[in-house]
Amino acid sequence: MKLVTRQDLDTSKDLLVLGLFSDDKDYYKDLNPLIHKKVSSALKNKTFDDKLGSCVRVMADDSLYDEVLVISLGKSDKFSAENLRRALSIGVNHCKSLRIKGFTTNIAQLALRVLSARVIGLACGESCALSSYIFNKHSQKSKDNIELNEVVFSWVESKSKKVFQDNLVSGQIIGESTNFAKDLVNEPACVVNPQFLEDEAKRLAKSSLLSLKVFKKKDLEKLGLNLLLAVGKGSEVDPRMLVLDYKGASSKKIDTVLLGKGITFDTGGYNIKPTGYMFDMKSDMGGAAAVFGTIRALTFLKPKINVSFVVPLAENMVSSKAYRPSDIIKAFNGKSVEVINTDAEGRLILADALSFASKQYKGASLIDIATLTGASVIATGHVVAPMVGNNSELLNELKRAGDMSGDRVWEFPFFEDYFDWMDSDVADVANLSKKFNRSAGVIQGGVFLSKFVGDSAWVHIDIGGTAYLGEKSFYNQKYATGAGVRLFAYLLNKLN
Ligand code: BES
Ligand code: ZN
Ligand code: ZN
Repeated sequence: MKLVTRQDLDTSKDLLVLGLFSDDKDYYKDLNPLIHKKVSSALKNKTFDDKLGSCVRVMADDSLYDEVLVISLGKSDKFSAENLRRALSIGVNHCKSLRIKGFTTNIAQLALRVLSARVIGLACGESCALSSYIFNKHSQKSKDNIELNEVVFSWVESKSKKVFQDNLVSGQIIGESTNFAKDLVNEPACVVNPQFLEDEAKRLAKSSLLSLKVFKKKDLEKLGLNLLLAVGKGSEVDPRMLVLDYKGASSKKIDTVLLGKGITFDTGGYNIKPTGYMFDMKSDMGGAAAVFGTIRALTFLKPKINVSFVVPLAENMVSSKAYRPSDIIKAFNGKSVEVINTDAEGRLILADALSFASKQYKGASLIDIATLTGASVIATGHVVAPMVGNNSELLNELKRAGDMSGDRVWEFPFFEDYFDWMDSDVADVANLSKKFNRSAGVIQGGVFLSKFVGDSAWVHIDIGGTAYLGEKSFYNQKYATGAGVRLFAYLLNKLN
């Protein structure tokens, strides 16, 4: 999709999308009396209100446009980058449903009253890319959906135009990288298995800024990543671990390691999931997809930083070879782990990945991202991802990156009171709390992982609720969201 900036409103488009702050209802009075009249009457009839996203359609034969869509931006003092993303998504979604190929809009320019050109550029680029996403690989019917060709932004102020345009490009890269993650999650597990993701990593690693090391089953055995091996034992496709280094800075030092849970399908194993709970479990590699999307964004944005990525990959299946409840397994860091439930597998593969990363990348901060628990959906719904960690600076940085990017995270309590909840009678640690059962499920997952991070600064993000949606919402479609990509793109590129 082409994103274009022009001084004035392009009149060659079918559709004009206009913003309107609710504290500025007379804005179009002098500019265009017809629009003002329609907005006023819609306000009177209560078909248009102050709420962000409320719309009025204006059709006029004598106008330069076939249609004008006026979108309420809400109150200007409440306006944020996220509101901008959402407002713009309404324009894109309108085009998608009417099969219009593009539109022109003044929304970016209006936003300049409240937000900086940089923030506006990023948000507009992201929203256009995110909103126009379609997953149509496998169905004839959805192939009829046309993609948007072009969005034209009017931008009058010349001194900030370049900043806007540059950030529009960066925002589009971040949005498209998020869409890349969505594709990986939406694709079923008969396609996306550990081998497929290894091949995908090889494609990414063609960039000169990246190097990739694949730890195959034999390597895992040699190193003693027995938790990852145990979880992957029931599958035809071997478990493996990908380690990628992105080197954009001249120094050797690596400050951050991102780790993503890559369970390409989670049946639950012998603690098998009931039918209704298994269906969406192709999305259980959402953490790995977040890492892949972040890597893609870095290879385009090329920030001067060094970051590494660790992705443990396995399929949690049932077979005569699969691991069992009550198995006791020795982790990479030497701790013995009692498997109380084979469905709490994500924490097992991440435990080995985290202890590997804390040893391999001494001094670096570790951030893991995972569709770890159904409890996260109960706790915060699909709105925001819970996180816990041992370093308040890192937690705060993530909070800020989440707020700025709209890919939000929220710190959960992590009091010492919880730290013995995962104790086992027979091993050093258990993968489920026998005593506390299902209470504070997100925190239990965090406590388990904390036993494997050594001295590293560390944060765990649970995207169980945010990675995959049951219904569309603004720039998010139904199903995969690419949660984590925007969060990490903002964090690593210091866009916060
Ligand atoms: N992959 C699931 C968590 C999940 C469930 C993510 C629903 C997104 C939506 C995870 O492996 C799992 O099964 N967790 C169990 C943990 C329990 C056995 C301690 C859960 O959430 O029930
Ligand atoms: Zn599970
Ligand atoms: Zn899982």
